[in-house]
Amino acid sequence: MAILDRHKILETNATLLLIFSFLVVTIGGLVQIVPLFYLENTIEDVEGMRPYTPLEMAGREVYLREGCYVCHSQMIRPMRDEVERYGHYSLAAESKYDHPFQWGSKRTGPDLARVGGRYSDEWHADHLTDPQSVVPESIMPKYGYLSAKLIDGKYMADLLATNRVVGVPYTDDMIAFAQADFAAQADPDSDYDGLLERYGEAVNVRNFDGEPGVTEMDALIAYLQMLGTLVDFSTFTPDVSR
Ligand code: HEC
Repeated sequence: MAILDRHKILETNATLLLIFSFLVVTIGGLVQIVPLFYLENTIEDVEGMRPYTPLEMAGREVYLREGCYVCHSQMIRPMRDEVERYGHYSLAAESKYDHPFQWGSKRTGPDLARVGGRYSDEWHADHLTDPQSVVPESIMPKYGYLSAKLIDGKYMADLLATNRVVGVPYTDDMIAFAQADFAAQADPDSDYDGLLERYGEAVNVRNFDGEPGVTEMDALIAYLQMLGTLVDFSTFTPDVSR
């Protein structure tokens, strides 16, 4: 009875109740949040993840600037209908080099987390230029002007260096060769050995929009064609030991 009597003091004194509730919530919150800053496995490491190549990074910048995330999510939820439509549900590790992440909050169009490799480069170029030409009922806007905007990649080193500041493991070499790698990925006739050495053999090296010069369209398609292709889900087994 004694303990209930003491509790009555709290229940009948609004200020005391407020102070003690605040204490309880603070301790509870700390217990939940603090370990996340110290646990090494907050984000499970997954084989295949690599930082974006300079060209993909440039495409990602176009994606952000054009607000593609307003209509498209990049996060497949672990629900059957989503997994059947889009593929394996998204892993936290798949967004770990995204600053900011592109999970989105609304789907006017389909999820794009695994759109890489689903269509040809030509399909993407046609679709972005005039979505209704390939999907007649589409309400997606036209982005043809991206084909007319040449980019030289001179800011790529800065972009990579900035991402390194927030934790993306770009090496000194990746930053030093950023502009060269940027150009090489869009030109299959170039010497792109260095690019593959730095980012892996699986990097797509193509003239993505089929036109001469590196355009924003090239960069955007390079980005889209990589989405969801880095982790090999035919061999991936989730770590369920934790
Ligand atoms: C106003 C909303 C809207 C915006 C903004 C938008 N889209 Fe879409 N998008 C759609 C809709 C709706 C579809 C489905 C119909 C279609 O395929 O065109 C779609 C389809 C797509 C597809 C095909 C996906 C699939 O799995 O079939 C891709 C790729 C795509 N959009 C990329 C983009 C990119 C890149 C941008 C930004 C440059 C963008 N979208 C901006 C609405 C939008």
